[in-house]
Amino acid sequence: MLKRRRYLMCPPTYFAVEYSINPWMDPAAPVDVDRAVEQWTALRTTYERLGHTVEVIEPVPGLPDMVFAANGATVVDGTVLGAQFRHPQRAPEAPAYLAWFARNGFVTHEAKAVNEGEGDLLVAGDFILAGTGPRTEPAGARQAQEVLGRPVVTLRLVDPRYYHLDTALAVLDSGNVAYYPQAFSRGSQQVLRRLYPDAVLAGAADAAALGLNAVSDGHRVVLPVQATRFAERLAARGYEPVPVDVSELHKAGGGPKCCTLEVRES
Ligand code: ARG
Repeated sequence: MLKRRRYLMCPPTYFAVEYSINPWMDPAAPVDVDRAVEQWTALRTTYERLGHTVEVIEPVPGLPDMVFAANGATVVDGTVLGAQFRHPQRAPEAPAYLAWFARNGFVTHEAKAVNEGEGDLLVAGDFILAGTGPRTEPAGARQAQEVLGRPVVTLRLVDPRYYHLDTALAVLDSGNVAYYPQAFSRGSQQVLRRLYPDAVLAGAADAAALGLNAVSDGHRVVLPVQATRFAERLAARGYEPVPVDVSELHKAGGGPKCCTLEVRES
């Protein structure tokens, strides 16, 4: 369903690649923070041009990955489940995001097990698809079902490059998704085929461009400009690809969706 979305984003003011917690991150490779800020600003402007509302959380010095707002929480019907990060480097982001939601009048719940927010918990119509393995634990996915009140379908991620569900799968609308099959275990691939026989599949090159790290409003799909073949496939299926360049953030293993936390009100 096409509707105005409300997004929370965090500017990459303190963005850096200082540690490596996924295979894309090379602390020896230079990062251009000004360029990251420009690319992030263009992403924000793109959402606004599409008619969506963007709110901004204050970045915290010393938290270089805080730009990846998707990991900050999961919000369904105005209820907020906070995150708990697997790696200590990102742990302080969880209370920072939860405090933003509390200040803005939301009912908040603290995470009791590892869950990396919308990086791994994707709302797909009536259910939540949960990526487990590299980051989110099965217990974190179970808590999401309890707190958010939607059935959770867990999918096991098996390729370290696709360490969050949102690097391997994008929700296109309430009834369909796009994904890169090889990122999932055999059983999870079967589950996806059963749930989404008409899914849009991405190939290896588009997956490596983090093309699946896309944000759809049900029709317009904001995705990395480098994922050209995937954009063509989306267009052929009636979606409107909206390419953006977030190449600096790719150095940390991120794309447009990582920078975007959807705030779903009741
Ligand atoms: N460097 C960050 C990490 O490894 C990137 C997070 C990207 N976020 C996402 N939703 N996939 O945690």
